[in-house]
Amino acid sequence: MAKILVIHGPNLNMLGQREPEVYGNAGLEEINSRLTAKAQALNVDLDLFQSNHEGQIVDKIQAAVSRCNAVIINPAAFTHTSVAIRDALLLLEVPIIEVHLSNIHKRESFRHKSLISDVVTGQISGLGAHGYLLALEATASLI
Ligand code: DQA
Repeated sequence: MAKILVIHGPNLNMLGQREPEVYGNAGLEEINSRLTAKAQALNVDLDLFQSNHEGQIVDKIQAAVSRCNAVIINPAAFTHTSVAIRDALLLLEVPIIEVHLSNIHKRESFRHKSLISDVVTGQISGLGAHGYLLALEATASLI
């Protein structure tokens, strides 16, 4: 069965409580359970991972090399700062979808730049929690 790694970056464990007017009311557990249901329907296997630590995200991406068929990643604040996560993603030869709950291009100028957008397959930004489900559908059809 195809394996899809889903990476949630820093502060996404606080979804639901964190700026709900920006990120919505769904908590991470709810998003993950919606993803799990959709993965069952699509007949793919998910590895769900959240970390507030850049190095742990790099380790997780490295561990996925040759072991997963696609990656869905919301690097959260690291989107705008992490050359290390970008470099790790370059190790992968599988489809990668970048997801943001909010539309980063409509927000503060420091959020407009994603250091990973030119190394991923595609980006979904501004569609809230639904963006993750669209990303899962996209990866399932790409692999
Ligand atoms: C985010 C957007 C980032 O700018 C922010 O730092 C986040 C979440 C999003 O999903 O909209 O933590 O990636």
